[in-house]
Parts: sequence; structure tokens; C-alpha cells
Amino acid sequence: MLNRTMVITLERFILDQEAFHPDDTGELTNLLYDIALGAKMIASQIRRAGLVNIIGTAAAVNVQGEEQQKLDVYANETLKNALNHTGRVCAIASEEDEELIPIPDGYPAGRYTVAFDPLDGSSNIDVNAPVGTIFAILRRVTTAGQGTLADVLQPGRELVAAGYVIYGSSVMMVYSSGHGVHGFTLDPTIGEFLLSHENISTPRTGKYYSVNESNFGRWSKGVQRAVRGFHGDDPSRMKGKNSRYIGSLVADFHRNLIAGGVYLYPGDAKNVDGKLRLLYECNPMAFLAEAAGGKATDGTRRILEISPTSLHQRTPLVVGSADDVDYVARVIAETAGAA
Ligand code: AHG
Ligand code: MN
Ligand code: MN
Repeated sequence: MLNRTMVITLERFILDQEAFHPDDTGELTNLLYDIALGAKMIASQIRRAGLVNIIGTAAAVNVQGEEQQKLDVYANETLKNALNHTGRVCAIASEEDEELIPIPDGYPAGRYTVAFDPLDGSSNIDVNAPVGTIFAILRRVTTAGQGTLADVLQPGRELVAAGYVIYGSSVMMVYSSGHGVHGFTLDPTIGEFLLSHENISTPRTGKYYSVNESNFGRWSKGVQRAVRGFHGDDPSRMKGKNSRYIGSLVADFHRNLIAGGVYLYPGDAKNVDGKLRLLYECNPMAFLAEAAGGKATDGTRRILEISPTSLHQRTPLVVGSADDVDYVARVIAETAGAA
């Protein structure tokens, strides 16, 4: 039987981590806790989705021109409300809002910004497959008042903390503030995230590769060659891997983080920058991958070095086990050099 007197809650763990962040005492802990509260509310709504018939398409279309589903709207509003009045945040960026979200009148603005994808993998909701929430926290660069775009458009290497919540067979929050990657599993009977995966380190080489291969014909020769390598076509340089892809970045990334693997969303002839968004999808995943010993690149550049110019910009992404990411980058470079 589980010994509940021995558990470490998320709150206690992040409080203990404050020693690593002498400039951020209290506030960062509370900010992470605000996100955890939002995630618990989203989790409980997702669990009830089938029962209360909340699934369906809301009238709104999000800024990327995609159809929003009701849970996207709920998750977005829940996170905004968990963050916008606490005095810890000066601006919020969300996949579902075209502009920067200001702090409402009458509430204080704090020293952090949060960018999030409130519900990632939303096309999976109707088929009861895992979805997630992704978040990225930066310290503001302006000094006071409402945050500005300059506070949010910082390269990922400046992140103070980042993480995701996966709403799967169990609900897990995985985060890093730059000192290890730690996973917490929600115990629904007590409503707390409990430390279940301390110091996650990702294998140097993975078992899996994850990519939407229906785009194969539109990829560059380099990406095609690298993926053929994962099929086992180049055995002297790359051992063949198993393919795993569910179409939910959080779920695909989480599996690969634990088991080892590489996730790719390359650019292609139709979408040169691929599909994923830098600020609230690629940067947080790159930050976590690096903190766990892995790597992340857009094919040529380290993701965390990219200086963003707009809130919703996209970037190609190759993220996961270090040797596998290096292999993809090497094959892309060789192929470009030979052209
Ligand atoms: P979102 O649901 O937030 O729009 O994100 C979906 C993203 C990501 O989760 C996933 O990896 C990718 O879209 C899948 O895209 P394809 O269907 O093109 O493979
Ligand atoms: Mn997403
Ligand atoms: Mn989303």
C-alpha cells in the first residue's frame, strides 16, 4: 500500500528548488503552482469530456485558422484566469490569442511572462488519446507596468522554467527550472501532484523516431535521407528504429524523453517552417530536452538560440536523444553540401 506519509508534493519540491534561484524566491514557486492548479482544473474537465458532452467545435477559429474545440477554449480561459491576477506575471501569450494578453485593469503586473499552448494535440480529444498543456516562463526585460512584446520575444536560452502536463492514462506534470527535469503524477484521490520521476535523463540514443511520414514527399532530400536512416537504410551509421507517432507533441515527446527517441516536425515544400510554434511548443520542449541531456535543433541551429520576431512564429523541430538529433543535423548538412 502507498505510504502517503512519505510523498513529496510538487509544492514542496519546487520550494526546495528555490535554493537554485536566489533571485526568484517564492514567486517562481507560486507561479508554477498557479499553472499546476490550472492543469488540475483542465484535467478534471478532460476526464469528464465524454460525460458532459463538452466535445464539439466551438464557433471560434483560432489565430492559426484552425477550428477550435471547446476544450481548447476552456483550457485557455482556465490558464489565463489562473495567472492574470496574481501579481506574478506581466504578460501572457497563448496559442489561442493573436495578441499578447495584458493584465486586467486593477491588478498588479509581476516580473514574469508565461507563454502556453493550453491544449496540445487537440485533434486527439475526440478519440480519447493523450493531450497536453505546454508552458514557458521568462523573466521580463522591461522594468515595470504591463509587459510588452520585448518581454516575451526572448530566445529560449533565457527561459527560467518550462514544462508540460500530459493528460494521459495518468496526469503528469514535467518541468525544469534548469536544474534537472522532474515529473509529478497527479494523485486524483488527494488532488496533488506527487514526485514520481526525479531527475529524468533521456538516453543518448533512442529506440523510437516520431514523425508524420505522410509529409515524406515534401521534405528536403536531407530530411528524407535521415528518416530513411531511421528505417535502417544506413546501418553503418544508424541502427533502424521503431516508429511511434500519435500526433500530440506532448505525448510523443514524453514517450521519447523517458524511453529515448527523436521527434521531428521538419519544414517542407508547403510549410517551410513546419507546423510547430517556437515560443510555446518548441522552446519549452527544447529546454526540457537539454536539461535531460538531449538536444533540439531546427536542422541547422540550436532551437534555444533562435531570436523570435513574432508571437506565433513557427520553426522546424528535431528534438530528443542527443546522438539521434546530431545524426539528423549531420545528414541534413552533408546532403545540403553535396547539392
Ligand atoms: P495543437 O493541437 O496545439 O494545434 O498542436 C498540434 C500539433 C502537435 O501537437 C502535433 O505534434 C502536431 O500538431 C501534429 O501535426 P500533424 O497532424 O501535421 O502530424
Ligand atoms: Mn500544440
Ligand atoms: Mn493547442
